[in-house]
Amino acid sequence: MENLPLLPLPKAVLFDAYGTLFDVYSVGSLAEQLFPGKGQALGVMWRDKQIDYTRLVTTSNDGAHYQPFWDLTRAALRYACKRLGLNLTTAREGQLMNQYRHLSAFPEVREVLRALKDLGLATGILSNGDPAMLEVAVKSAGLEDLLDHVISTHVIRKYKTHPQAYALGEQACGCSASQIVFVSSNSWDALAATWYGYRTLWVNRSGLPFEELGTQPTHTGASLRHVLDLFPH
Ligand code: LAC
Repeated sequence: MENLPLLPLPKAVLFDAYGTLFDVYSVGSLAEQLFPGKGQALGVMWRDKQIDYTRLVTTSNDGAHYQPFWDLTRAALRYACKRLGLNLTTAREGQLMNQYRHLSAFPEVREVLRALKDLGLATGILSNGDPAMLEVAVKSAGLEDLLDHVISTHVIRKYKTHPQAYALGEQACGCSASQIVFVSSNSWDALAATWYGYRTLWVNRSGLPFEELGTQPTHTGASLRHVLDLFPH
């Protein structure tokens, strides 16, 4: 275990959704069935393009080209299939998008949220996902009772890593970012949240390198369970 800096106890824990609580690569097996030998490449390019598009619409013309995350996800799928030379029929697109709506939660999610609630902490999601997507994902994973806040950046029509998106977490929890642990598996999200002022945990499930921009997350762990080490129990 890392040596933990002596920091005051956080009051709340906020989680990124896609990739952190919900396994975005769980669409890979359906993608592989539909496009044998190309499932993994499609999963990775789809995800990268989706995030690319969030940045494009947030930074261009003061957000004039904003589209909800669901629409960007569909656009990214279409792009990735074209780029990989895959024939995305309407039926296949429907199947893949439906699978995206019902992503699996990582196996440790419930027990970690339960333990945080038992410690008396506020919990929540702070995500680029639009409210309808988040609602279905939270319900399908049976997490409704374990989350105090489900915050979508859709209300401000800007995506993370815009500072107004991270500010939504402070507003919902009623405390400053330094009193909140923000947990993300996406290194860019963990980095930007650290820059914003959150205490951060980067969940590095696949042993990836962190971003090379000179700032490290406050904590790093291989699973969501690591967040429990930040609290005496
Ligand atoms: C989210 C994506 C970016 O849930 O992972 O915000």
